[in-house]
Amino acid sequence: MLTDTFNRTIEYLRLSVTDRCDLRCTYCLPEGFKDFEEPEHWLSFEEIERVVGAFTRLGVKHVRLTGGEPLLRARLPELAQRLKGLPGLHELSLSTNATQLDKHAAALMQAGVTRINVSLDSLQAERIAQIAGRDVLPKILAGLHAGKKVGFDPIKINMVVMPGINEDEIDAMVAFCITHGFTLRMIETMPMGETGRNAQHLDLQPVKARLREQFGLVEGFFSGSGPARYLQTPDGKFNLGFITPISQHFCETCNRVRLSVDGTLYLCLGQDEKVELRPLLRSGASDQDLADIIQHAMTIKPERHEFREQPAKLVRFMSTTGG
Ligand code: GTP
Ligand code: 5AD
Ligand code: SF4
Repeated sequence: MLTDTFNRTIEYLRLSVTDRCDLRCTYCLPEGFKDFEEPEHWLSFEEIERVVGAFTRLGVKHVRLTGGEPLLRARLPELAQRLKGLPGLHELSLSTNATQLDKHAAALMQAGVTRINVSLDSLQAERIAQIAGRDVLPKILAGLHAGKKVGFDPIKINMVVMPGINEDEIDAMVAFCITHGFTLRMIETMPMGETGRNAQHLDLQPVKARLREQFGLVEGFFSGSGPARYLQTPDGKFNLGFITPISQHFCETCNRVRLSVDGTLYLCLGQDEKVELRPLLRSGASDQDLADIIQHAMTIKPERHEFREQPAKLVRFMSTTGG
């Protein structure tokens, strides 16, 4: 079992399979950004399987495929299938911007991906073009449709809510998700990199209070390993999650670490503590060496992020660690 110095059990690995993305969301990647990881530094499928195997032997039960945009990594369903076969892995999920999901949904389902989360900040094509840098709303909607058609359930929609940009669409997003049977999660923008810092966050606590009242929502529990806290309709059919790193801390229940495409193990989304696993993998380390370094990494897992206290601290963009 992986336990850190704050007595938290780590059971959730967020695995970034590429730092590249076909979009340039204003709060994530700068326009024109090209400084991506060299392909020779990308962990191969064999290396990924080996590291994830080390994690599952240490008690990790949930692996989430992230990016950049994970569907840009060639043959992702093949990787998913390989990981799904690892003993002890109960859940294999995917966070995607869905621009290419229509092409891959069936193969992902067949490969054993259990759940998908999709980023969608607006239902207005022009706004998506402004926020994401490309006119991709129809592609995203086609991806969502394909995901639903092949049977992904639940499908969670991630909406980064920004004042003056898309806050006026909260009610429309709620209506859209109720109509289509999606779970909606609203997210406060985090100051990751200069892009994240330049984007404003909206305090979601008043929004939560208003929506609770308006829709007669009650506190609820909903499946997932992440930091969202949920309200739901009394019949449990519609779930509304709030991811509030700025207005309300959730680090005391942190259960996760992140592995980036170059084999860096990041111990916290909001801090710089990390351990490089690629040199070990490429120098003939044994499975025991790998297990030992992962166990040791838990001793430097930070207690919490400091997005409020030190918003300028993190230089890396969200796309490096996949959120
Ligand atoms: P579920 O298993 O469905 O709960 O997934 P998830 O919420 O963990 O995954 P997803 O990739 O959909 O992430 C949603 C948002 O939560 C993203 O904006 C992430 O950056 C954010 N998030 C996930 N884990 C953490 C965390 O440890 N700290 C902070 N600050 N944000 C996180
Ligand atoms: N703050 C909050 N969420 C972010 N995401 C990307 N950048 C940020 C940021 N600066 C979200 C994406 C995606 C999830 C994986 O992370 O919208 O839904
Ligand atoms: Fe790409 Fe996701 Fe970053 Fe948008 S938030 S630029 S979709 S990695």
